[in-house]
Amino acid sequence: TDVLSVASECAPLIKTGGLADVVGALPSALMQEGLRMRVLIPGYPAVMAQLSETRSVLEDPDLFGGAARVLAAEAADLDLLVLDAPHLYDRPGGPYIDESGADWPDNPERFAALSWIAARIGLEGVTDAQAEGGTWRPEVLQCHDWQAALAPEYVHAMGGTGKVGTIVTIHNIAFQGLAEASRLSALRLPPERFTPDGFEFWGRISALKAGLTSADRLTTVSPTYAAELMRDDYGGGLDGLLRSRRDHLSGILNGIDETVWNPATDEHINRTYRSARGKAPNTAALRGAMGLPEAEGPLCVCVTRLTEQKGIDLLIEALPRLLRRGGQLALLGSGEARFEDALREMAEREPNLAVQIGYDEVLAHRLIAGGDAILVPSRFEPCGLTQLYALRYGTVPLVAMTGGLADTVINANAAALDRGVATGVQFHPVIAETFGVAIDQLCDLYARSDLWGQLQRNAMRQPVGWGPSAQAYAALFREVAPAA
Ligand code: ADP
Ligand code: GLC
Repeated sequence: TDVLSVASECAPLIKTGGLADVVGALPSALMQEGLRMRVLIPGYPAVMAQLSETRSVLEDPDLFGGAARVLAAEAADLDLLVLDAPHLYDRPGGPYIDESGADWPDNPERFAALSWIAARIGLEGVTDAQAEGGTWRPEVLQCHDWQAALAPEYVHAMGGTGKVGTIVTIHNIAFQGLAEASRLSALRLPPERFTPDGFEFWGRISALKAGLTSADRLTTVSPTYAAELMRDDYGGGLDGLLRSRRDHLSGILNGIDETVWNPATDEHINRTYRSARGKAPNTAALRGAMGLPEAEGPLCVCVTRLTEQKGIDLLIEALPRLLRRGGQLALLGSGEARFEDALREMAEREPNLAVQIGYDEVLAHRLIAGGDAILVPSRFEPCGLTQLYALRYGTVPLVAMTGGLADTVINANAAALDRGVATGVQFHPVIAETFGVAIDQLCDLYARSDLWGQLQRNAMRQPVGWGPSAQAYAALFREVAPAA
């Protein structure tokens, strides 16, 4: 079975968050299951600059306001199809925002174009000298988030129902790709589907809803988030729709790239290690690098976007509790200015808080390796990757009990400690008070070296790779592929 994965980002070429890691990791994970996955991404300047040899494999003279072509290329071991459409993507700034941080006003068209081309590839294929008949055509489209979610809609609109299997994968329901109703024809959408049963959402067009109502199957990135999405407090107004499709919705847990995140071979860290005892030099180096003194309590770390989702306000509120217990925090992140400013200000006053604002892959590795514990107080978390890295590095996760955080950490309650299976600490509901209680619990555990050692060992033994999830995706892709 051949699959085309369609996404707005893909590591290591272009990344703003975990979506990119997942899109970049799935092809090689699936290769081991005997599937071929190619990845279609927009030709942003940063992506184009990383391509060496390219072949034009599909052309479109009028793709939402300009000429475009699809380029086949190999980069970073990925089999890429890159949508080269300068009128949509050749501009400075990020994938979604301009240099001042504002959304590109034509984002609906920019990603409608990506979805349109995905649908065309699904139905017509692309030129490929090595393929039978000179054309390669995927049997399944995996469409990630709202940016690719119009593809199944276009497949139907192009008369291709049943010719290619379609899957929409939800990485974050908070982003739906809403557009004004007046853009209906500009986005080449069928007006008869602009209804509450179709892709209308409170008077506007919802790209995500189009995909969720028209794809063959829906997936999300953890079993608990799949269940949460069907509740009105997590479903972003789409919970009813998702309940009605519950037989076609599954949660498949993300894995991590175990070659990039491996404490035994990690070139970014001070000293590689195979057991938690080997963390000490990294912890010392991290304190040195971040300007933190020696401490009684645990050195906690965070690597995160600074947004409401990630519970940064809760972190700021609960921090004094950690500091009172002799603990420390080293944080790397960027995002909303109000959080950046508040954290910077606190760090100036507080010697046991170190804050680095920005994006830094190398420092991320050093934090994960050097930390005693990682804090992830997210209000919702479809999967979350940093707690998975932390587990692998023997860095004890303290997490909110939601989404993928609920699925990947075993809370150190009395039963789990007694059975010797705990890997971290969880709290619920996600408010500053319960977070504070969990911080106290973490500090108590840290003070008991026997229990702490047990948590570290269990954490490092927990499987966090793609194995079972790659199998689950492979089974799903084979199920939705049209019969040959
Ligand atoms: P999300 O995608 O919601 O941001 P995830 O935990 O799934 O959350 O993925 C975040 C990814 O981005 C991880 O790979 C994490 O290491 C990385 N990351 C986040 N912030 C930074 C930063 N400031 N510097 C380096 N890497 C970061
Ligand atoms: C989203 C989610 C995050 C998840 C990532 C990859 O960015 O916020 O929880 O890990 O997608 O699926």
